Amino acid sequence: MSTPSILILPGDGIGPEVMAEVVKVIDWFGDKRGLKFDVSHDLVGGAAYDKHGAPISDETMEKAQSVDAVLLGAVGGPKYDDLDFSVKPERGLLRLRKEMDLFANLRPAQCFDALADFSSLKKDIVAGLDIMIVRELTSGIYFGEPRGIFTENNERVGINTQRYTESEIERAARAAFELAMKRDKRLCSMEKANVMESGILWRDVVNEVAVDYPEVEVSHMYADNGAMQLVRAPKQFDVIVTDNLFGDILSDCAAMLTGSLGMLPSASLGLPMANGRPKAMYEPVHGSAPDIAGQGKANPIACVLSFAMALRYSFDQGDEATRLETAIETVLAGGARTADLLGEEGVTAISTTEMGDKIIEALTASL
Ligand code: IPM
Ligand code: MG
Repeated sequence: MSTPSILILPGDGIGPEVMAEVVKVIDWFGDKRGLKFDVSHDLVGGAAYDKHGAPISDETMEKAQSVDAVLLGAVGGPKYDDLDFSVKPERGLLRLRKEMDLFANLRPAQCFDALADFSSLKKDIVAGLDIMIVRELTSGIYFGEPRGIFTENNERVGINTQRYTESEIERAARAAFELAMKRDKRLCSMEKANVMESGILWRDVVNEVAVDYPEVEVSHMYADNGAMQLVRAPKQFDVIVTDNLFGDILSDCAAMLTGSLGMLPSASLGLPMANGRPKAMYEPVHGSAPDIAGQGKANPIACVLSFAMALRYSFDQGDEATRLETAIETVLAGGARTADLLGEEGVTAISTTEMGDKIIEALTASL
């Protein structure tokens, strides 16, 4: 097989800083583990808008479609708040998701032992937490038509449409069942079947797919109850599958259980390409954090863990992914903290770069 290709889109705000640490990690795997990647860089979000007048150019889209994996930092910032909706930085991200057809968004929420005290919940409620949210990413209210702001009876009306086809639900559900089979074989589906027809269909289709996975224990929850249960007793969950909007909200909620949004990676996967690898984009769950951008305060771990997910889901290097995750655990257990993880007595923050260097040291020590 030819050298696997990666397109790096650092984006805006802290995106470029955290991505610089990922590049160190990619180079380390090339030098020390013989995992060579053909890496290219391009613009997305506000950075692309500044150069091309669009949050992602057609050329960049073409590159994204042709590589084995895209790594994305973060998009957005106050500078772009007043732009027309159609060219806002977020539209670049949504275009990538939609045109690459990345329908399965995997958002793991894992609580590192060293950080259990950082959660806003009591330590025993989150210690050892390991859940996986599978969010449908290419349909639902994010993309449904009609949408827009219209005038009716002399007043404005804002319209968005929740729309799901059976096949869209089915493929997201199937991705979630496959993951459940590799984990604790428990799947909880969340919707609002009590008020939304799309929720009734969602529940039906999940039950239909369940027939193919008799070993997986399936449950259903209304999404509002799901939010409550995530905060009350998150360890009851193994895999959660839900739609695009509920997944957006529930994954932020799950993220915070772990203590810091700066820790959580994600993978967005689509259909297999000709070489058998899925279309894929990896990105931290956190945003561009413009308030701390350029100050060396950002935590690069979510972005580095996103590369670990790439090793596992795109490049079939599960052992090397585990090596990287373990290195991060070691670094945290050793007390290294970026500014988002302060609060313990006598601990001072290290910079984004220093955190990256520590991860590299721990990787080297793992050899
Ligand atoms: C996310 C983000 C995005 C979303 C924004 C930046 C468009 O919140 O990935 O969770 O709403 O999907
Ligand atoms: Mg979100």
